Amino acid sequence: GALSVGVDVGGTRIKAGLVDDRGRVVHATRHDTPDRTTLPRVVEDAVVGAVTELMARPEAQERGVVGVGIGAAGFVAADRGTVVFAPHLSWRDEPLQEKVSARLGVHVVVDNDANAAAWAEHRFGAARGESHLLLVTLGTGIGGAVLVDGELQRGRHGLAGEFGHMTVVPEGRRCECGNRGCWEQYASGAVLRRDALELLDAGSTFATALLRRCDGRPELIEGEDVTRAAREGDPVAVELVAEVGRWLGVGLANLVAALDPGTVVVGGGASEAGDLLLAPAREALARHLAGRGHRPVPQVRAAALGVGAGLVGAADLARRG
Ligand code: BGC
Ligand code: NA
Ligand code: ZN
Repeated sequence: GALSVGVDVGGTRIKAGLVDDRGRVVHATRHDTPDRTTLPRVVEDAVVGAVTELMARPEAQERGVVGVGIGAAGFVAADRGTVVFAPHLSWRDEPLQEKVSARLGVHVVVDNDANAAAWAEHRFGAARGESHLLLVTLGTGIGGAVLVDGELQRGRHGLAGEFGHMTVVPEGRRCECGNRGCWEQYASGAVLRRDALELLDAGSTFATALLRRCDGRPELIEGEDVTRAAREGDPVAVELVAEVGRWLGVGLANLVAALDPGTVVVGGGASEAGDLLLAPAREALARHLAGRGHRPVPQVRAAALGVGAGLVGAADLARRG
């Protein structure tokens, strides 16, 4: 059968792939997201470039491509085409759908990256058969999505699910959105990166070891490097991931109080830490959840489609029109 293209435009990476109608990735590519100080057009160019590259693949030529779905790391309006605001990108009131479809001459749909990931996990992943899903992704920021009765909840203006910018610490750390104390400043992949850089400043041997793996260039340290070190058993990295996990659990307890989901799925780069992240998160969730002992506590699972969830979901949304 025909394929569709999914693109996940994150704050750090653009991931794109050719996806079949069962959510299988036939071929994928990854590029760094252009620096956030560049013009919106530069990110758009990178998206168009990645899609063009995929459409030229023999699989695409042979099977045909029915559409392109873009999951964007930002506030996507109810028109499902305009990125009204993106904390980690230069897009402001960006008519992304219109611009990209004009340049590619194909059918394009745009959605929030976490909404796309939730759709993929619901259709093909860790939340199949779950009618009430809460999904969060931990990458550059925290992405969020809610499914009720199998339907993505979009809110009045399309902007529901921006959990990353809930205030968890009044007057806390500055966020790229401009506010202070947002949840994603305490629980995201970017937090791991920031912690590593702070430890480097403090002269920690943990951070110097991490730096050695990044060609001695602090600007190359990423959250993923800390996650990897944690998985290899480094005790400092394990603690950094656990701390993010505890903050994750606190925020989840609030969301569970509000939404009563059956399953919570955690995706994004930091979820590759698995139970190093999720065990402290489950513990904090159980401890902070009101009515504990008298109510079901939802399961907290890692995204089955991992960091590919966003592109798989975007591709499937494109297929649906
Ligand atoms: C943005 C969201 C996005 C998330 C993950 C947040 O900072 O506000 O729109 O889904 O990061 O990329
Ligand atoms: Na969302
Ligand atoms: Zn914020």
